[in-house]
Amino acid sequence: MTSDPKSPSLSLDDLDRLRNEAESEFSSIKNDADAETFRIKYLGKKGILRELVKAVRDIPAESRPAFGSKANELRVHFETRFEEAPWKAGAIEAESASFDPGLPGFPILQGSLHPLTQIRNQIRDIFLSMGFTVSYGPEIETDYYNFEALNTPKHHPARDMQDTFYITENHLLRTHTSPVQIRVMESMKPPIRSIMPGRVYRNEEISSRSYCLFHQIEGLYVDENVSFADLKGTLLAFSRRFFDEKTKIKIRPSFFPFTEPSVEIDVECFLCKGSGCSLCKHSGWLEVLGAGMVHPNVLRNCGVDPEIYSGFAFGIGIERIALLKYGIEDIRLFYENDVRFLKQF
Ligand code: DAH
Repeated sequence: MTSDPKSPSLSLDDLDRLRNEAESEFSSIKNDADAETFRIKYLGKKGILRELVKAVRDIPAESRPAFGSKANELRVHFETRFEEAPWKAGAIEAESASFDPGLPGFPILQGSLHPLTQIRNQIRDIFLSMGFTVSYGPEIETDYYNFEALNTPKHHPARDMQDTFYITENHLLRTHTSPVQIRVMESMKPPIRSIMPGRVYRNEEISSRSYCLFHQIEGLYVDENVSFADLKGTLLAFSRRFFDEKTKIKIRPSFFPFTEPSVEIDVECFLCKGSGCSLCKHSGWLEVLGAGMVHPNVLRNCGVDPEIYSGFAFGIGIERIALLKYGIEDIRLFYENDVRFLKQF
């Protein structure tokens, strides 16, 4: 080391180097033993900094005053710091005594995705794997998108003040995700394959089965030669991926103004496999979604020529599927955010 105080070639630079070395050893002191080692090495009777002062006499006369005062300053510097350091009060010992690395840590609660988000993601991922894209639309809609463009005339019961939250005469909270179909068809040219998840609102009496807000995933497929067989095949494939690979589906005729023909699709009850249980009210089937072939008027409203293109659409109620899948009796549990409920998922 360059800091041997007996070396006849000691210079002011050596003092700088010595200072750096001592500084780094000082800052790595972790306990009383380290502190004592430092003290003996630098500040003890035979310590480097004391010997340094003695070495002044070996320095050539002309540089002696400068060297002497710098060496002295260095010793005082470390003596002062050492005096003021925390271990003087036994702090290092006390600190390490109060920290027991063997104690178990505090439990950190890990959050998880809301069950409705989990179901939505599962449904979304199945359709993404089939080549569908994801689109979104506004929750505040105009009368045109929510009803008119969807072939729902003024007198239709779905427009009843009982069901729809109107904001102005012309603006409302969307009652379904179907208006996003219109926006998608207005903004893209066929072939269109898209799903549209989101919140919807209805002015319904709040009960264990219905709530004023819920979630849907809309689906739309428009291209040349899209047939009812494509609708069946797609929704069967979806049901088998989502519920069970042997799931059967049942298609019942229904009515929606924006599809013709319109259907409702039931899946075989995944709990009793069709033999009848309380979940399926002993019918063996669970109603899961509405669907149909897009009505030619709807295509026309969006500038899509029904002579060239056809399509199917479907709407899935996310709460409905989540209630079924998890055997939950009360829809309100989804919105209360009670951690005791949420942490089960
Ligand atoms: N919008 C309908 C509802 O909220 C569900 C629905 C039915 C959507 C048939 C569709 C469809 O796209 O083709 O009850």
